[in-house]
Amino acid sequence: MKRRTILRGLAGAATQGSAVTALNRIAGAEASASDFSVTVLLDEPIGTIRPTVYSQFAEHIGGVIYDGIWVGTNSKVPNIGGIRKALVEHVKRLGKVVVRWPGGCFADRYHWRDGIGPVASRPRRFGRWREVTEPNTFGMHEFIRFCRLCDVEPYFAANVGTGSPEEYQQWVEYCNAPAGSTTLADERAANGDREPLGIRYWGVGNESWGCGGKFTPEDYCREYRKFTEWLPEYGVKLYLIAAGPNSNDLDWTRRFFTKWIDGTRAPIQGWAPHYYCGTTGHALKFTIDQWYEQLFKANRMETLIRDQWTVLGLFDPEHKIKLVVDEWGGWHPAGTEINPAHRFEQMGTLRDALVAALTLDTFNRHADKVDMANIAQLVNNLHSLFLAAGDRFVATPSFHVFEMYRPHHGGRSVRVDVHAPELAFGPGKPPKQIFRIAGSASRTGQRALTLTLVHTHATDPAEVTIRLRGGLARELGQTVLTHKELNAHNTFEQPGTVVPRSSPAELRGSDLHCVLAPASVTRLDVTLG
Ligand code: AHR
Repeated sequence: MKRRTILRGLAGAATQGSAVTALNRIAGAEASASDFSVTVLLDEPIGTIRPTVYSQFAEHIGGVIYDGIWVGTNSKVPNIGGIRKALVEHVKRLGKVVVRWPGGCFADRYHWRDGIGPVASRPRRFGRWREVTEPNTFGMHEFIRFCRLCDVEPYFAANVGTGSPEEYQQWVEYCNAPAGSTTLADERAANGDREPLGIRYWGVGNESWGCGGKFTPEDYCREYRKFTEWLPEYGVKLYLIAAGPNSNDLDWTRRFFTKWIDGTRAPIQGWAPHYYCGTTGHALKFTIDQWYEQLFKANRMETLIRDQWTVLGLFDPEHKIKLVVDEWGGWHPAGTEINPAHRFEQMGTLRDALVAALTLDTFNRHADKVDMANIAQLVNNLHSLFLAAGDRFVATPSFHVFEMYRPHHGGRSVRVDVHAPELAFGPGKPPKQIFRIAGSASRTGQRALTLTLVHTHATDPAEVTIRLRGGLARELGQTVLTHKELNAHNTFEQPGTVVPRSSPAELRGSDLHCVLAPASVTRLDVTLG
């Protein structure tokens, strides 16, 4: 009876028939309170969570740059020198993250000189995405200004597809050469930035197995060597990022590094796999089985990190090269764009928020392996944190997850041991299994512990006992993001539909107890005694 009541609250888009079928198959639905426990091993550190794993990606595609970030200096939309003010105010709330630019696939046909100098004389070019002409109104100085306004760090992806090693070398020189030292440094000064920009994150192509040139791993490795050999440092320790595999393609990684070790090893600091968990159903319409399937696919990030790390270790046993997952997120079919010109724009729901949360927890749990990760993309594209059109702007549920997880930034990740029966779902025999509860924990200073938990069950709550091994809780706070409808989302008209809410949490003796709402993300702020 209770289940039927809850079902009424489900997303209208999820058909009741399939919801009931799915529920009947959920093994975990019968679990009792005592089945759920989370132990935080305060004395088992994993590594420091770099704020850069909460990073962003902004490509010249659809509505990301034009309309999303750049509204123009003459716009009626509140702006700071042409940059959307509401976006700046929200990106600041993400903390010390990195923004990757200008692509994506766009990067491999982008010539950086097209975007510098007086705007009126910048060339108009064929846009990589074949939709509109790229006007180059927004170039690197505009992007740097955006980063400064938001207090985030830029990450440039260089053109290996149609560019040259020399063009790349000159881009680094233009950005980082000391004032007055070279003609390019003078040109930079003439364009408004006398002091070096000190850019340290540099990508060497993008998806070089695909839109970045359709290279074999061996050919890409050869290009990588040429492109990185003559890069000047100018006192900036460059962090070079090589294009990793499509999802967890181990063959790409093995073959690239087999080639890499056969001669002098070109410097690589970051290895960049891309993983899109895609879709099940549609951004707004999905069954309960598809809810679980989407979370299941997102959870493959765990395997990807472990597998890629193992293969990296064969070639780099000291693990100096870290993972940089510089594109990740959900990718739903077209149909929910707020503006038809915004290619790959999709509505982000509670489901996408759980995908974001479980992925961020995965990165936190692998803080020793993942240096950076960039959700695709910041605004108006795929798994966006924001949607913007003209003077309208809204934060998606995924933005709220990123903000909820901020206390993890710079924290020391510690091991979390979860005991909760898995959920079975789907028509298969045997059905697929997905975790019911997963999360991550980090410590800041001596007394602060942040524990984030994702609860996947679509309809039932879970009462969880939380044990702290190696410490005692003195105070507890709880913040929860959930909604009774699985496809709930924020709109321009109703921006507060899916937002986090803080509530009292109970401390009983040495263990903590909390009830995780169905389909929820929870953050517990624990003050240790
Ligand atoms: O994020 C959209 C596109 O997806 C990027 O340009 C490309 O790198 C990926 O395939």
